[in-house]
Amino acid sequence: MAGKTPLKKILPPKQLMGEIAVPGDKSISHRALILNSLATGHSRISNLSPGKDCLSTITCLRALGVKLTKEDGKAPVILVNGVGKAGLTEAKNILNAGNSGTTIRLLGGVLASQPFLSIITGDSSLRSRPMKRLIEPLRLMGGEIYGRDNDSLAPLAIRGKKLHGVNYTLPVPSAQIKSAVLLAGLFAEGDTTLQQGQPSRDHTERLLKLMGAKIESDGNLISLAPLKTPLTGIDLFIPGDISSAAYWLVAGAIHPSAHIKIMNCGINPTRTGIVDALLAMGAKLKIENQRLEGDEPVADLDVESSRLKAINIGGDLIPRLIDEIPLLAVAACFAEGKTVIRDARELRVKESDRIASTAKELNRLGAKIDELPDGMIIYGGEKLLGNEVSSYGDHRLVMSLAVAGLVARGTTSIRNARAAEISNPSFWEELNKLARY
Ligand code: S3P
Repeated sequence: MAGKTPLKKILPPKQLMGEIAVPGDKSISHRALILNSLATGHSRISNLSPGKDCLSTITCLRALGVKLTKEDGKAPVILVNGVGKAGLTEAKNILNAGNSGTTIRLLGGVLASQPFLSIITGDSSLRSRPMKRLIEPLRLMGGEIYGRDNDSLAPLAIRGKKLHGVNYTLPVPSAQIKSAVLLAGLFAEGDTTLQQGQPSRDHTERLLKLMGAKIESDGNLISLAPLKTPLTGIDLFIPGDISSAAYWLVAGAIHPSAHIKIMNCGINPTRTGIVDALLAMGAKLKIENQRLEGDEPVADLDVESSRLKAINIGGDLIPRLIDEIPLLAVAACFAEGKTVIRDARELRVKESDRIASTAKELNRLGAKIDELPDGMIIYGGEKLLGNEVSSYGDHRLVMSLAVAGLVARGTTSIRNARAAEISNPSFWEELNKLARY
């Protein structure tokens, strides 16, 4: 993704102090945009994620005939003119999902049922990520979808068809695939039931319910009836993204002189694995002022310098902190003892191979991390020393390395650091606000 940019230099500050709010949740933003586009009526989405990934979703939806207008102001507000059940129109060109797996997979689910042809692609990272997992269930529903490399990679060609509901067991705990099947199921004939081995983020289910779809979740079983009447567009305030707040939670916990408060942050239990892991490691972390924002739980988070101890993580916790594992590896470098992360093979097919890239780049800073096929072993207690590191154009790696740089001795220089804007364009501003040199 993003072309070559100058090195971003990070120095360890004397203190990390203050109160911030992180931008709106990226996962919820994608869903709010897509579902309101498919609904009837006008809706206003405030505090939308300003990241490039959500911009990719907006651009694709516009190309499919949806009117989305930006309202002026600091936090992004988008007005959506819902087109209803059958209002999308064929795009005049190839759709570009950029770096965004959520865009290509969720829209893939929608487009499978639309009465026109769509071709959707993305940047080089997205074009190397697995798409068979999307194509397979959609084909079981009667979809006609093709991809490069024997139907396993994007670009994808989707000839919209009349779909039928499916009874499907998700082979991987992926919220993107779950959501794609649910979105396809909205326009299919007959019910769709999904069995998931491990729960993954449930924003799609929550929002569908709020907008009037007939959807039930019972443990790991989800059932959805096709839409008889269109979804109802709703105004939403998107809570702060816990995946963006997580960088400050870890920075606050591992920096020797820190006290950080993050206001208005989403704490959906399918996303709070990082909070649970940090608490288990002994972090001084408080969840305050819990409330509901629409159908999503929200709170303020307070973290202080902490003495961390190692933990073992795996199983059901992994999908609840899948995007935070590179960052958790940074925390584990500062914990006493050996942290073992297992069951996280999915990290190998993210924006970069996050097991290899995290281990390699943190080791370059003096960490001691061994790769496992499905995770890593992190030996805590090694002092980190600034160095030049690579981000592989992966936003989560950029921000994890920046947090490491805040506690490493000397200067840490990150290549391709602009990639942070994929999920959080205000990351560096937040850092400047909190760091006291
Ligand atoms: C996401 C789901 C996860 C996550 C990604 C966002 C979503 O991906 O890693 O950053 O919004 O549904 P998978 O569904 O591939 O696990």
